[in-house]
Amino acid sequence: GQTDYLYYQELDSTNNRARVLASEGYPEGTVVVADMQTAGRGRRGRSWYSPSNQGIYMSVILRPVLPLKEISRISLLTAVAVAETFEEELNLPARIKWPNDILINDKKVAGILSEAVTDMDGIEYIVVGIGMNINNQLQGFPGDFRTAATSARAEDARPVSRVKVLQGLLARLESHYLDLLAGSFEGTLKKGKSLSVAIGQELRLDTINGFLVGKAIDIDENGFLLLRDQSGIVHTIISGEITILPL
Ligand code: BTN
Repeated sequence: GQTDYLYYQELDSTNNRARVLASEGYPEGTVVVADMQTAGRGRRGRSWYSPSNQGIYMSVILRPVLPLKEISRISLLTAVAVAETFEEELNLPARIKWPNDILINDKKVAGILSEAVTDMDGIEYIVVGIGMNINNQLQGFPGDFRTAATSARAEDARPVSRVKVLQGLLARLESHYLDLLAGSFEGTLKKGKSLSVAIGQELRLDTINGFLVGKAIDIDENGFLLLRDQSGIVHTIISGEITILPL
C-alpha cells in the first residue's frame, strides 16, 4: 500500500521515533529507518548494538483490527518475513527461535521488538521494530555478544546492499500482514513452524513468573508455544525466553 518512509541518519531508537509518530496519528505502514541508533533497545531491557553503515534498524507502525488474543500472530509473521529475507535475498539458512529471534548456524542475526499501545477499544497501534546484522564484522560486537551473535557478512563474507535487503523485507512483511488481515494466516503459520528451532526440543523457558522445563511440541494458531512439562501437562506459552537444552 501507500507508505510513509522516513529515513534518519541517527536516532536514539527507531521504535521510540515510530511511537511518537504513531501517537501523532501517522498511518499504518509508516516505516522509520535509521543508519545508526544511539540507544537501540532489545527485549527484556537489553540494548541492541546499532553501529552506522552495518545493520538494518527499522520500525513499522501497524494499526491492525484484530482481537487482542491474535496479536502474537504479528510477532510470528514478522519473524517469518525476516527469516525468509535472509534465506531468499541472501541465501543464508535462517531459523526462528521462538518467539522472535532469528538465528543463522545457532547464532543470533536479527531480533524483533514489538510494542503495542492499547486503548479502550483494543489495540491503538503496534510498533514492530526489527534489527538485522548485515555487514557487521564480528570483532566489532561488544564482548558479551561476540560469541552469540552473527551477521550476514560473517556467515557469507560478501558485503550486501542494505537497501535491497530492506526492500525485500518490507515486501515480505506486507504480504504476510495482508494475508493475516484477509483471514488466511495458515500459510504463514506453517512456514513459521517449519523454520522454528524449538519444536521437538527439550528446553527451559524463563518468564517473569519463573521457569519451566519441558518439550516444545507445537506453535498454535495464535503463535503461542505449546510446552509439555515432565508431568505431561501442556502449557500454552504466550511469551518468554527459551534455552534449548543439550541432550
Ligand atoms: C531483541 O532481540 O531483543 C530485539 C531487538 C530489536 C532491535 C530493533 S533495531 C530497530 C528497533 N529499534 C529499537 O530500538 N529496537 C528495534
